[in-house]
Amino acid sequence: MSIATEAPPRAADSGSTPVLSLRGISKTFGAVSALTDIDLDVGAGEVVAVVGDNGAGKSTLVKVLAGVHRQSSGTITFEGKPVSVPTPREAHELGIATVFQDLALCENLNVIENLFLGQEIGSLRLDSVQMETRSWELLRQLAAKIPTVRMPVASLSGGQRQTVAIARSLLGEPKIIVLDEPTAALGVAQTAEVLNLIERLRERRLGVVMISHNMADVKAVADTVAVLRLGRNNGFFRVADVSSEDIIAAITGATDNAVSQRAAARAAPPPPDDGSTATSTAVPQKPASLSQELS
Ligand SMILES: Nc1ncnc2c1ncn2[C@@H]1O[C@H](COP(=O)(O)OP(=O)(O)OP(=O)(O)O)[C@@H](O)[C@H]1O
Ligand SMILES: [Mg+2]
Repeated sequence: MSIATEAPPRAADSGSTPVLSLRGISKTFGAVSALTDIDLDVGAGEVVAVVGDNGAGKSTLVKVLAGVHRQSSGTITFEGKPVSVPTPREAHELGIATVFQDLALCENLNVIENLFLGQEIGSLRLDSVQMETRSWELLRQLAAKIPTVRMPVASLSGGQRQTVAIARSLLGEPKIIVLDEPTAALGVAQTAEVLNLIERLRERRLGVVMISHNMADVKAVADTVAVLRLGRNNGFFRVADVSSEDIIAAITGATDNAVSQRAAARAAPPPPDDGSTATSTAVPQKPASLSQELS
């Protein structure tokens, strides 16, 4: 069984200062503490998976990074300097791009129009040739499988849409890209496509924060994993050193001994249906994603 480290681990090759560093980030909504004392480091060319059960605080963390919510306390350091990210515009200007789970694409517009929506090239007349060339360049860099950029987004697959949303976020030349559940709605082949895309981002030396519920995806593409539980850090792992069971144990709070907990859960009678214990219901709620076989 691997040991979760207290401090965020760093990718083997990053050695230097992380691009993005969070220390002691808390976020309250009235009486609700969505995040308490969160630490996270993301280096250039590093994929950090942020995992946790429903309500663990993942989306709140994404929104703090995206400038949608301002943290109640704690510091965000970007390229070694303390920064504030009060608005999405500030996040964009710093170089933090976020792809939200709903992707925010316009169904009736084609790929080029979606890529450049709100950031069109050309002051008075749009330079459509330049936008088309730039679209192909971007998609080629991502090794994206999109047959034509003149196709409306409505006729693309889920994986292709995710690709368009990621490509759009790269137009601002970000240093960090935050992906909220990028494979949640995808089938096997499309998931593989998106995981390949994340590898391209790593090759381009971006820091990637990937929110995920899927252990197979985390094991396939992440360098490190940060577990959130009830709004707090509950372990940092290097993916090479950790099993899916250990990550799941940290997610559900069964960190003492994952194997005996699972055996006990199998032997125990079915849990009462009053929803009284979050830990005992957490794993059965997501059998399809959490128990996927690793390749
Ligand atoms: N705007 C808000 N106002 C009040 N409480 C909020 C708000 N946003 C989030 N919360 C609370 O903060 C906690 C963390 O929510 P969050 O959406 O970040 O979890 P999550 O890890 O993304 O969960 P899921 O996997 O279900 O998406 C929850 O208890 C949630 O109810
Ligand atoms: Mg969420």
